[in-house]
Amino acid sequence: MSGYTIAVLPGDGIGPEVTAEAERVLQAAGQRFGITFTVSHFPVGAAAVEAAGDPLPEKTRAAVRRANAVLLGAVGAPGLEHAPRHLKPETGLLALRALLGVYANLRPVTVLAPLVDRSPLKPDRLQGVDVLIVRELTGGLYYGEPRGRDASGSRAVNTLVYTVSEIERVARVAFDAARRRRRLVTSVDKANVLEVSQLWRETVTAVGREYPDVRLEHLYVDYAAMRLVSDPAAFDVLLTENMFGDILSDEAAVLVGSLGLLPSASLGAGAGLFEPIHGSAPDIAGKGVANPIGAIASAAMLLRYGLQLPEAADAVDQAIRAVLDAGARTRDIAAPGAPAIGSREMGERIAGVVLDERGRRKAERGTDAHPSVPRSAFRVPRSSDIP
Ligand code: IPM
Ligand code: MN
Repeated sequence: MSGYTIAVLPGDGIGPEVTAEAERVLQAAGQRFGITFTVSHFPVGAAAVEAAGDPLPEKTRAAVRRANAVLLGAVGAPGLEHAPRHLKPETGLLALRALLGVYANLRPVTVLAPLVDRSPLKPDRLQGVDVLIVRELTGGLYYGEPRGRDASGSRAVNTLVYTVSEIERVARVAFDAARRRRRLVTSVDKANVLEVSQLWRETVTAVGREYPDVRLEHLYVDYAAMRLVSDPAAFDVLLTENMFGDILSDEAAVLVGSLGLLPSASLGAGAGLFEPIHGSAPDIAGKGVANPIGAIASAAMLLRYGLQLPEAADAVDQAIRAVLDAGARTRDIAAPGAPAIGSREMGERIAGVVLDERGRRKAERGTDAHPSVPRSAFRVPRSSDIP
């Protein structure tokens, strides 16, 4: 029996509701595959500012350093929008990403057949859409110095900076992933205007020479944004820098019908960070109606990329599909006027299928629909546990 330590950082708003369901499903997977998950909770974001006066308190830092993987809900609170930077919930998340060194953020966007009618786009555009966004996560405008407002308050500055090695390492993740998929990398930049983008393009092109079997194309970000909704099936792996990736991944959520469905994995040299791409959604927080699938699918990515447990990950992904096929819908993905279930019921149904014998057989038939990144791309926390 293998065992892992998971740090869960529920965070703010709907974060605790959705991570509770992700944990339920994780434990179901543990039960089925004979794996022990030792889960502890630590505050981050506004919850941590309230509890400890710091959006990433020392206790949380120490816990994530010890964990085999980190599962996060969401951060953000309306009341702290104008707080000083060191007290903003988002500052805690950025510090967490930097602490873990998770430079590659994988955001898979796969349109599922039963949800095609939930997207505002025409169904024929959505056929076969399966994009893996690889977003650089620990550099660019989010971290560049200098930054801030000057004394008068009438001028503000942020710095966009990337080094060759920062670009190379995330580009390799994208090319390695493309090798396991449809062998196309679309690199997105603004090289017609920005020097940083020119360096990005040159560096990605040079890395691409190491992957002669993968086709590389470059798009300007404005055109890429248009193409993502006009011809989304044309993308395989979309590689881009931090800020562009943030924007394009919310846009891509329109393809699947709800932001609440999308997971992410943030990977680097050590323990990975796994979180849904949605925010804290304060308007629906505490009501039990949030869609937990983004968080549950993030737990599947945790199993797949964080702990190298592909069978358990497949079982969770398969269970998500099975309940959606069977018609289960939270409010955000229900047809107008159709019945919707709450977060907890959705979590229970998915956990039920993970444990269920028929679900097991379905899962054993396997699915190739999930994007894959070669294991060799990352050092994993406990190599002795790699199957
Ligand atoms: C995301 C979020 C974060 C980001 C915020 C909460 C800082 O929007 O993960 O996409 O911009 O990276
Ligand atoms: Mn975002």
